Amino acid sequence: MNNKEHSISLAGDISLGGEISVHRLGFGAMRLTGEGIWGPPTDRKRALGVLRRAVELDINFIDTADSYGPHVSEELIAEALFPYPAGLVIATKGGWNRPGPNQWTHDATPAHLRRAVEGSLKRLRLDRIDVYQLHIPDPAVSFEASVETLAQLRNEGKIRLVALSNVTQEHVERARKIVPIVSVQNRYGFADREWDYVVDYCERNGIAFIPWYPLGAGKVAGEVLNQIAETQHASPTQVALAWLLRRSPIMLPIPGTSSVEHLEQNIAAASLRLTDEEYRKLSGVSALAASR
Ligand SMILES: NC(=O)c1ccc[n+]([C@@H]2O[C@H](COP(=O)([O-])OP(=O)(O)OC[C@H]3O[C@@H](n4cnc5c(N)ncnc54)[C@H](OP(=O)(O)O)[C@@H]3O)[C@@H](O)[C@H]2O)c1
Repeated sequence: MNNKEHSISLAGDISLGGEISVHRLGFGAMRLTGEGIWGPPTDRKRALGVLRRAVELDINFIDTADSYGPHVSEELIAEALFPYPAGLVIATKGGWNRPGPNQWTHDATPAHLRRAVEGSLKRLRLDRIDVYQLHIPDPAVSFEASVETLAQLRNEGKIRLVALSNVTQEHVERARKIVPIVSVQNRYGFADREWDYVVDYCERNGIAFIPWYPLGAGKVAGEVLNQIAETQHASPTQVALAWLLRRSPIMLPIPGTSSVEHLEQNIAAASLRLTDEEYRKLSGVSALAASR
């Protein structure tokens, strides 16, 4: 793989809240933990190696959460990368806990969020978290109360920028009345378009959109993807990432992997340019699947 293929700068840059600029292709650090996003990785050296290689290849946006492991993903990031290179942005989250393998429980109470931010600061060895995301609204807690807590933590200097995850447009609008919101992280991909209207809203308002699980490919999606991948001499993952990068200038994909080989392939997607026809075909997959 040559340097051009590796160059992440080809993805372009995106500004977070007009304060921090990052490349528009980041790294999701959830998959570095053990099976079921639980416990340590089976091969710690390999997990640390993926993080170091990501930064070596110029990735400057890493997504994580206190619940990945729990704590494991944040600890690995600090172990691999501290002291952090200038310009590296770590975006973590809180408010959704991991009590066991593949299990989630809500807690976005003000008291918990305060404890969660303190815990992330300690594990990441930071004085201030660049981007802190409410992992998901807690149905048992006032959404405003959760966001106000993050706004207070921002005023106290513990968080630089506030962000949301797993939200509707209405949530974003309500949150923006309390504090500027710099990014929204929802499940999204070319064949998984439920949040299209949130992407459009983010684009209109200069908010970054961070798609998670961009490869939600069903049978129809797989057929179209494989055919385009073959024509482009690329992998299906690269095609799915290239579609995201083209979908909107506010898109900031964070493909996750536990392998250096996959990481390098994902970064190379920054140099892949889909034709208009290929972009249209991929964009039409969800409608095509629905009609079958
Ligand atoms: N906000 C939320 O609620 C939420 C939820 C889920 C995830 N996230 C974030 O989003 C990030 C990405 O989501 P995700 O990990 O669920 O989905 P993803 O990035 O779409 O997919 C990850 C899976 O794809 C595989 N993969 C990655 N690159 C590949 C390649 N080049 N070729 C073949 N397989 C490849 C990985 O396996 P290998 O390890 O074998 O490469 C892994 O099993 C996470 O790391 C996390 O930071 C957020």
